[in-house]
Amino acid sequence: MLDEIAAEIRQCRKCALCQARTHAVPGDGPPHARIMLIGEGPGQQEDLSGLPFVGPAGQLLDSLLEQAGLARADVFITNIVKCRPPGNRDPLPEEVAACRDYLNGQIAVINPRVICTLGRPALQTLIDPAASISRVHGVPREQDGLLFVPLYHPAAALHRQDLSPTLVEDMRKLQLILEKALA
Ligand code: URA
Repeated sequence: MLDEIAAEIRQCRKCALCQARTHAVPGDGPPHARIMLIGEGPGQQEDLSGLPFVGPAGQLLDSLLEQAGLARADVFITNIVKCRPPGNRDPLPEEVAACRDYLNGQIAVINPRVICTLGRPALQTLIDPAASISRVHGVPREQDGLLFVPLYHPAAALHRQDLSPTLVEDMRKLQLILEKALA
């Protein structure tokens, strides 16, 4: 089922992002992961490789995951849009809407217990359109039978060094949240 969704994504022409893509990036991870991480959209390295979070933000994500006691193999990683927005701009509402069925399909098939959103666009798409990342990061929220944990995007710490301790602290919180939620 996940493979079928991925095959559809690779052929998708529902929005203009398909025009400039090298590869669509459906997502990667175990098909029945208990934790999903959902970012914003592929960057340059992801567009070139077809895999999520393999560029600089991905390398930082790996070390952050480690601090929460997690490895890549424990999580399914995807994005709210599956094709790279030009210049890494935020995805437009119509692009997010065009891609939404793919994400909903992936969530339904994987059926995770916990979804971590990475960054503001994923937070506002999946949890609360009015939420502010600086207020709600690290605060879990039960919604639709799932536990959502909004986190800063790892790229935020690449741009703003002062956010690094906050991301590390949120990973410690995430570890505790997961211990309870997955017990
Ligand atoms: N940033 C994202 O939001 N997703 C990726 O896959 C890579 C960078």
